[in-house]
Amino acid sequence: MEYFIDSADARAVADVCRSFPVAGVTTNPTILSRVGGDLRAVFTALRAAIGSERLLHFEPVSPDTEGILREADAVRALVGGRLAVKVPPTPDGLRAVPLLKDAGFAVTVTAVFSPQQAMLAAACGADYVAPYINRFDTVCGGGAELVRAAASLLAADGSRAKLLCASFRNIRQIEEVMEAGARAVTVTPETFCAMASHPMTDLALEAFRRDWQPIWGDSALDELLAPGGKDMKDMINKNS
Ligand code: G3P
Repeated sequence: MEYFIDSADARAVADVCRSFPVAGVTTNPTILSRVGGDLRAVFTALRAAIGSERLLHFEPVSPDTEGILREADAVRALVGGRLAVKVPPTPDGLRAVPLLKDAGFAVTVTAVFSPQQAMLAAACGADYVAPYINRFDTVCGGGAELVRAAASLLAADGSRAKLLCASFRNIRQIEEVMEAGARAVTVTPETFCAMASHPMTDLALEAFRRDWQPIWGDSALDELLAPGGKDMKDMINKNS
């Protein structure tokens, strides 16, 4: 499974990268509009936050193929590194897919809401296909079923395109698309922490602390085990 961060907030992105297995960042015009300001600085900071090996996704705003290619070149000239261009499954977007691939970009066909859009994207050579799960669920329900159908068609076709699911409101939606065949997901920085946390984990850690404290206080293993470190016999006697 590949995990992407759906954010253009470079500080939050850097924080997530410190702890989580991150394949890259996904942005779109809406996500960029949330940080606003000087886009050169925004892209440069995002590249610095993820490094050159992780994929930086961006979405040209031009509706036509030529404009898409021009915008992609402009981003590459500014930040370099591994880049994925997001295009919609429109005739111009799909026409751009092989041209962007030839130019050395990864390509994600985005805002996908049907298995047939996914199949067309894959046939054009897209690396990723991005269904918007919560938006689909909100309108008609069954986001996971959309993913299951697309995954099954792609697999039957022997396609290498990966379903990169986006747009989530809760963790159950994420788990459902993973079960249904998603190969990648993109989630907000806050969702990374939510995915890792569980109240039962907190209770287990609290119990460990409670059991440790009366015997070894606040000392950690490195202090207790170091030669010449704290004298455990003393501590044991003191506590018995
Ligand atoms: O990556 C696509 C995503 O940003 C759309 O999410 O929450 O606006 O539906 P949302």
